[in-house]
Amino acid sequence: MNYDFKCHLSRRGFLGAAAGLAVSASLRLAVASGVDERSIKVAPSQARLTGPDGPATAVWAYNGTVPGPALRLRQGQPVRITVENGLDEDTTVHWHGIRLPNAMDGVPGLTQSPIKPGGSFVYEFTPPDAGTFWYHPHADSLVQIGRGLAGPLIVEEAEPVAVDRDVLWLLQDWRLTKDGRIAGGFGSMMDASMSGRVGNLVTVNGQAQGGQGVRAGERLRLRLANAALARMMALRFEGHRPVVLAIDGQPCDPHEPEDGRLVLAPAMRIDIALDMQGDPGSRHDVIDDFYDGLAYRLTTLAYDKAPPLRAHPPGAPAALPRNPLPEPDLANAVRQEVVLQGGMMGGGKLAGVGGMMGMAMPGMNGTAAWSINGISMTGDGHAGMTPQFTLRRGVTCHLTIRNETAWWHPMHVHGFSLLLLFRNGSPVPHRQWQDTVLLAPKDVIECAFVADNPGDWMLHCHVADHQMAGLMTVFRVT
Ligand code: C2O
Ligand code: CU
Ligand code: CU
Repeated sequence: MNYDFKCHLSRRGFLGAAAGLAVSASLRLAVASGVDERSIKVAPSQARLTGPDGPATAVWAYNGTVPGPALRLRQGQPVRITVENGLDEDTTVHWHGIRLPNAMDGVPGLTQSPIKPGGSFVYEFTPPDAGTFWYHPHADSLVQIGRGLAGPLIVEEAEPVAVDRDVLWLLQDWRLTKDGRIAGGFGSMMDASMSGRVGNLVTVNGQAQGGQGVRAGERLRLRLANAALARMMALRFEGHRPVVLAIDGQPCDPHEPEDGRLVLAPAMRIDIALDMQGDPGSRHDVIDDFYDGLAYRLTTLAYDKAPPLRAHPPGAPAALPRNPLPEPDLANAVRQEVVLQGGMMGGGKLAGVGGMMGMAMPGMNGTAAWSINGISMTGDGHAGMTPQFTLRRGVTCHLTIRNETAWWHPMHVHGFSLLLLFRNGSPVPHRQWQDTVLLAPKDVIECAFVADNPGDWMLHCHVADHQMAGLMTVFRVT
């Protein structure tokens, strides 16, 4: 799939989310009712992850493509998405990062009954925030995401943002066998108690090792989304200086990342402004060097030979318009602590990949390798999950997340965005709101949010193996 939204500005002239037309003919649009109608079918499919000449890999897909179709919605416009299940196991769809009614959150057993094989479910919500989000299953999600189920969800700002092109890279990490099949062994104790299922092939919009055509002088808004099960990424754009505009869909103060590296943990999104300052005809690699000694080329910026679009760069990128997030009232906040424990001793960035089998089993009962505040909730969500804490509606929660493990965890909260306050006691700059916060080993994060959305909500690590093996909890807003 090619997610290059050309003519972005002119298409805005259409009513509603006309962009959907360009994305997939199978997505219908009903402007008359004022509701944006979409449909998604989940089913087995095939994908050529290494290009048209490579082997076909059997995958699970939304509307037949990997990643799924880019849903381009409009801020404040209601959408109705019918999801049909063509798998032979239960599924659901979770609209990651969207602040929506609890019943639309897609957690089986907790917010809805799972969608049975052959069944369907209609999701209805009105996205309050513009930004870059994504969607994925929340049932058997280690296997279902690992077999390819993930898609981008973009909510457009009411007023267009001035860039030459709006481009999206959805990044997926695959663990393939030599003959190009998806490797089995999901949920091994090794993966579960260490780094999770880190794969051996990373794709950009379903394609590994490709190039990205760019034009000298243009400014891109590049939306990066990490849809990997477990792989953390740290992207460097050689010869370029990305400016971060938004994290997890929420605009921040525009800033250059530390050391020029964009750290993108599973489920995180970063929007950057990228000025194409290279020479016409030149090529520049994009490198992921998160894991020590395992840097690889993610893709290449391949400049067209055409002369630069403009003589001088267009000046510092402006901040994106803020979303209507409720402002935390820190002086009157309720404090809550969440302590992450478990996993193998030792730790580090990456282990358990490459055959160090036969190590001692971790865990409390053989399946739970991790816990939150001493309790291990395992799986994807199921009936009868007792909330670990309750917040009165409207109250500000000052949440401290304490990573007592030796591993990295992108902790994700459903239904809310968290304003980051402190990391290990130091104030977090740039006014960042995130739904997925990466904690390094032993990190302590303090953040805040207003509990304005009633329901039972999940809080879990987005390394799928960790979530399955106990790094998950539920809280209630009443
Ligand atoms: Cu992106 Cu509970 O998930
Ligand atoms: Cu989520
Ligand atoms: Cu984790």
